[in-house]
Parts: sequence; C-alpha cells; structure tokens
Amino acid sequence: MNKAIAIDGPSASGKSSVSKGIAAELGIMYVDSGALYRGVTWQALRKGVDTTDSAAVIECMLNAEWDFFVQDGASTFSIDGDVPVQELRGKEVRENVANVAVIPEIRKFVVESLQSLENFGSLVMEGRDIGTVVFPDSPYKFYLDADPEERAKRRYRELVAAGESEKAEEVMESLRRRDKIDSTRKTDPLVVAPGAQVIDSTSMTLEEVIQTIVDIVRADG
Ligand code: DC
Repeated sequence: MNKAIAIDGPSASGKSSVSKGIAAELGIMYVDSGALYRGVTWQALRKGVDTTDSAAVIECMLNAEWDFFVQDGASTFSIDGDVPVQELRGKEVRENVANVAVIPEIRKFVVESLQSLENFGSLVMEGRDIGTVVFPDSPYKFYLDADPEERAKRRYRELVAAGESEKAEEVMESLRRRDKIDSTRKTDPLVVAPGAQVIDSTSMTLEEVIQTIVDIVRADG
C-alpha cells in the first residue's frame, strides 16, 4: 500500500531539506505543496489578474489546463503546457501567494490535486496542512519545529548563501510575521495534527532529523 508521509511546520523549520532527504532515503516521491499555491499565483499574475480579487483568481485557475507528472523523483505540474520552476520563487509570486492561499476554493483545488498524487505511489509531502487536511488518516504525520532564533539563523544563512543582502533582525521580524499569519488564518491554520509526532530540531542536525523519521517509518514496515 502507498505511504503518504506528512511533514508540516512553520517557515524555516527545515521541512524542504528534511522531506527531500526522506524521499531520497526511502526512494519515494517528494512533493512541495506550497509550489501549487505558488503556481496558481504565477498563473494569475501572468494573466494580469489582481490577486486580491478572489473571484478572478478562481476563474483563472478553472480556465487553466493543469497536468501533474513525476520528474526526477519529485511531483511537478504544467499550467497551460508550461512548467514553472524558477518562476515560482520570484519576488512577485512571493509577495502575492498569501492572498491566493487564503481563498477557500483555491485551497480545495490544491488539496484535491495533492491527494490525487498518491496514485503515483508512496510520497513525502511538505506543507502547513498536510497532516490536518490533505492526509489526516496517514499514520506518518510529523510536525517539525525549532526555536524562532534558530529558524531565523537558518533562513539568514540561506539568504546570504543565495546572495541576498538582508539584515538578521529583519529576517527575524519577517519570520515572526509569517508565523502569526500561518497560525491565525481562518482556513487551515498551521496547527499540530492530531496524532502527529512533534520533532524539535533546534539542536539536531539535518541528518539526525531525516534518520529519526526514516527509522519510525521503516519500523512500521
Ligand atoms: O512553503 P511555501 O513558502 O512555498 O508556501 C507558499 C504559500 O502557500 C505560503 O503563503 C503558505 C502557503 N501554503 C499553505 O497555505 N499550505 C500549504 N500546504 C503549503 C503552503
């Protein structure tokens, strides 16, 4: 039977690196759920749609042709025949995606699309509502956490490595803001799913976190 491993947690808790590591170790598919919210946002922006106009964003999503497939061990998608990758990481998408991710109809479309990916095989999916909404019945639900200071340090190092000139205090402030938005929004706020195992990675290495989760999944057969 296919396994769905759910990895949720706040910004900069290490979800992406951990999920990719688990996928590689177990030889299963990696799914970045946030990419889909970013994909809807990218489509809206390239069609000139105002992302605060929910009805227009929904119409834009419904009019597009979506196709899901697996590439290099990761789930990916095309929109009207184009496969956005780097485009999803740009500033415009980053600044508009929160508007799109709060629209209930968009969340419904994304959640159903994410659930259908199980047809491709076992997977590890990172996000904010994977254990609570997308795969609530999975026995493999994990919530990654780390002290805000540690998460801010990690994000800061990532930004510096990517050549961005951000101030450490601003990174901390921006994380605090994202934490608040993620955990207080009305639709699917970030909470620990019932039955999820909480892993505090503050003083763990990436490898230790991956191994902890892989051992739990393997122990289950
Ligand atoms: O993880 P990310 O930065 O790519 O997420 C992009 C946006 O989508 C962010 O506003 C949080 C939201 N998101 C969500 O609401 N639910 C998910 N499962 C994943 C992302």
